[in-house]
Amino acid sequence: MIYFDNGSTSHPKAPGVADAVRDIIERGCFNINRGGYSGAYEVSELVYNTREKVARLFDCHSGREVAFTGGVTLALNIALKGVLRPGDRVVTTRMEHNAVLRPLAQLKARGVIVDTARCFPDGTLDLADMDAKITARTKLVVMTHASNVCGAILPIREVGAICRERGARLLVDCAQTAGVLQVSTRRDNIDILAFSCHKGLLATQGLGGLVLSRELAAEMVPLVAGGTGSYSTSGDMPSELPDRLEAGTLNLPAIAALSAALDYIEETGVETIYAREMSLLKRLTDSVSAIPNVQIAGPSNLTDKIAVAALDCSGIDNAAVAARLDEDFKIMTRCGLHCAPDAHRVLGTFPRGVVRCSLGYFNTEAEIDLFALALKQIREGR
Ligand SMILES: Cc1ncc(COP(=O)(O)O)c(C=O)c1O
Repeated sequence: MIYFDNGSTSHPKAPGVADAVRDIIERGCFNINRGGYSGAYEVSELVYNTREKVARLFDCHSGREVAFTGGVTLALNIALKGVLRPGDRVVTTRMEHNAVLRPLAQLKARGVIVDTARCFPDGTLDLADMDAKITARTKLVVMTHASNVCGAILPIREVGAICRERGARLLVDCAQTAGVLQVSTRRDNIDILAFSCHKGLLATQGLGGLVLSRELAAEMVPLVAGGTGSYSTSGDMPSELPDRLEAGTLNLPAIAALSAALDYIEETGVETIYAREMSLLKRLTDSVSAIPNVQIAGPSNLTDKIAVAALDCSGIDNAAVAARLDEDFKIMTRCGLHCAPDAHRVLGTFPRGVVRCSLGYFNTEAEIDLFALALKQIREGR
């Protein structure tokens, strides 16, 4: 079995993750902020330490600026619906996932004005158009750090600098880049960073989060209200982070998983992970380029990408190629539109989609070589 769908969720998870989940369940998954007993204090310490590790990864001021959510989709909804009110203006890009596009469509129906910056046919951002679209009236810019369809990296730092200059806020969807590319909320001028834990962070599903300042969180309307184990007599959500955005019981097994995964990522180094994945992508790109009638959508320069290859086989159905890879060769890729229809329009692959190979740190050269052989065989009609 060869797994090339790490953009959807990573497999395998980081060493130590499975043990961490088992360990917390066996020792007692006690609720933090709610129980005045020793087991609950131990779990509080785990959650505190994990927030600090997230803060180190994304270079923010402290773990108090990290709010956990049930995933990055929820995190993006909390951020967008918390910040934007009717009449506000938001700018986005054409490479966004439906986790951004659909909440924006809901907000548009409520009177938020949505503008979209152009992208080039290789999926990279037209920065001049983004620059022209961000005005003094723009409240928020929301953009993905890298396309989940073709791997194109978008220039968040440059957009962040424009936002600072014009007084707009920047929300970055790091679903595809957390744990793979260095991200610094301070250096990159990010006001709100949304992350997923089950992709590049090599932990489990059911957890994501936001990194943002206390001041900004206090201005936001919390999308979800409920118990926090603090200020219980008040009818309002607390103004402090993380409580303001963390109503209800946290997913503690997933936090234990994240803690173990972040230890592994810290030890290994994000640069090492990216370099390894890109050397695998180069091998895949070189072998696929030698196969006639297979195009790779997205940036041609590997330095503009994360380790995703969007393969388009002319003359045959890409979905049929993905199905044969799975059935005859046990190679798992993902076909279709990858929840990002507009990105496919930009790349010229709408509505047929592409065969997406999203590589992970644990893939091997031998797997790439087997994939290339399998694709060649399918392409030759064998
Ligand atoms: C760029 C991007 N944003 C958001 C998401 C949503 O992630 P999830 O379904 O884990 O919430 C994905 C998932 O692939 C993604 O690639």
